[in-house]
Amino acid sequence: MNHDVIIIGSGAAGLTAALALAESRKVLVLAKGELTGGSTAWAQGGIAAVLDAGDTFENHIKDTMVAGAGLNRLETVEFVIERAPLAIDRLVELGVPFNTEDEHLHLTREGGHSHRRIVHVADATGWAVQEALLNAAAANPNITLLPHQACIDLITGRHELRYSGSGRVWGVYALDETTGKVVAHTAKATVLATGGAGRVYQFSTAPRGATGDGIAMAWRAGCRVGNMEMMQFHPTCLYNLEVKNFLITEAVRGEGGHLLNPRTGHRYMPDYDQRAELAPRDIVARANDAEIKRDGLDYVHLDISHKPPEFVREHFPNIYEKLLGLGIDMTKGPIPVVPAQHYTCGGIMIDLAGRTDLPGLYAAGECTESGLHGANRLASNSLLECFVFGEAAAADILARWDSFEAPPPVRQWDASRVTDSDEEVIIKQNWTEIRRFMWNYVGIVRTTKRLERAAHRIQMMFGEVEDYYGHFRVSTDLIELRNLLQCADLIVRSALARHESRGLHFTLDYPKTLAVAKDTVLVP
Ligand code: FAD
Ligand code: SIN
Repeated sequence: MNHDVIIIGSGAAGLTAALALAESRKVLVLAKGELTGGSTAWAQGGIAAVLDAGDTFENHIKDTMVAGAGLNRLETVEFVIERAPLAIDRLVELGVPFNTEDEHLHLTREGGHSHRRIVHVADATGWAVQEALLNAAAANPNITLLPHQACIDLITGRHELRYSGSGRVWGVYALDETTGKVVAHTAKATVLATGGAGRVYQFSTAPRGATGDGIAMAWRAGCRVGNMEMMQFHPTCLYNLEVKNFLITEAVRGEGGHLLNPRTGHRYMPDYDQRAELAPRDIVARANDAEIKRDGLDYVHLDISHKPPEFVREHFPNIYEKLLGLGIDMTKGPIPVVPAQHYTCGGIMIDLAGRTDLPGLYAAGECTESGLHGANRLASNSLLECFVFGEAAAADILARWDSFEAPPPVRQWDASRVTDSDEEVIIKQNWTEIRRFMWNYVGIVRTTKRLERAAHRIQMMFGEVEDYYGHFRVSTDLIELRNLLQCADLIVRSALARHESRGLHFTLDYPKTLAVAKDTVLVP
């Protein structure tokens, strides 16, 4: 099926690009599972933008660079931060009901920010943003939203009927999850907006579908990926044996919450950093990890019960209700929390126009390495990145439209030599194994030995997974397993290549930070 532009992903990045493109082009948006299945809908804290009278772009740029441990690309940081207020204006126009105070947007505070600058919709910002974007996209006659499409691989010159072998991207092969058929969708331009790879770890705040599909597809097609070792761990994921990945927003600390050692009741963050609970995430996550490991704890405590109950309920209505349902009253006592994987800072290398290394292929949002986050993302800068790069990619596609050729005839998906799987257990076994060893060997604190152990396992699993992929009909689980493994490999190779500790990459074998910050770039 042929379209003007294909967008893979219906989160903040994908829908922003779709809405901008739909002013003049026909856009197909493909999503795995439901349209609300990405991280966007789960975002809590908010979106960072300089809107306060006493704040400046320079402050926001500096905070972003400090959190990113100097690995950020200054040009990108400036590009994104200077466009933030406009991005917020557009969301207001789309009807996102941001919280206000005295007729101004209410700004909350999060770790690493020197000022209040986070606009939010209580503690469920992402859901409000996702809803507004989806409503606008659904109402636009130039946008077709197609959920339940698990994209498998990009269509390139290798798939042209008259083989050219070029790296030009012409679209994507997608498994229709409702029919089990694989469809070749072609277009003049393709945008990857597939989110992160958080599910490569056993404990993650990210949704089930965050399996790094876009990163793996781009890599297989020939794109470089950068800084994949920079996996962000959020310090405060709820510790609960039944609810495994519920985030307790950083804004709880921003509004005065303290981290306490549950055994002693000691507020320990001031011992680790003078910014205490408002230090950047990597520092707080490592402190929590250190307390847990040193004292053999299951969790640490996050306590905001010293604030008036109405204040807590008003700021965090969803978290309050959710916890109450689990028997925890956050207005009266502490919340048990642990660190968990939260955000993929690295990804597909893009330029300021969202262009990847391959002609015809763009990328935006969490699947990319744009240079914004460096070695550690500043809180609430990531939705912002989605809006700015969604727009930038769309603008570049529209500007170049007349130079794009129409897609040539391409090969259809060949399922004639595969059969139905007789051993689904292999998928489950490998999936669980990857996530466990990534957590244990490639987690918050690393060593070369542990990374090598992980690399060894990954190499053994590649053979097994490729063999399975070659013989059996594709399913979403299999597509995801293949991509998870690919992303695990990219993360471990990047981590092994960085001989220093910087930002999120902390290794006992190279504890110092080198004088010059350098990207880890892997070339396929
Ligand atoms: P996503 O929103 O993750 O969307 C990915 C899309 O790609 C989905 O539609 C998915 O179905 C689709 N997709 C994936 N693979 C395929 C495939 N193979 N085929 C077809 N479609 C596919 N950031 C902030 O700035 N502020 C916050 O307050 C904040 N809070 C967060 C809270 C939580 C719990 C989490 C997990 C993240 C939070 N983040 C926050 C991060 C932020 O939500 C994400 O970085 C951002 O939403 C990513 O948007 P995206 O458009 O890049 O991808
Ligand atoms: C949070 O609300 O703590 C998440 C914010 C973010 O990931 O930027």
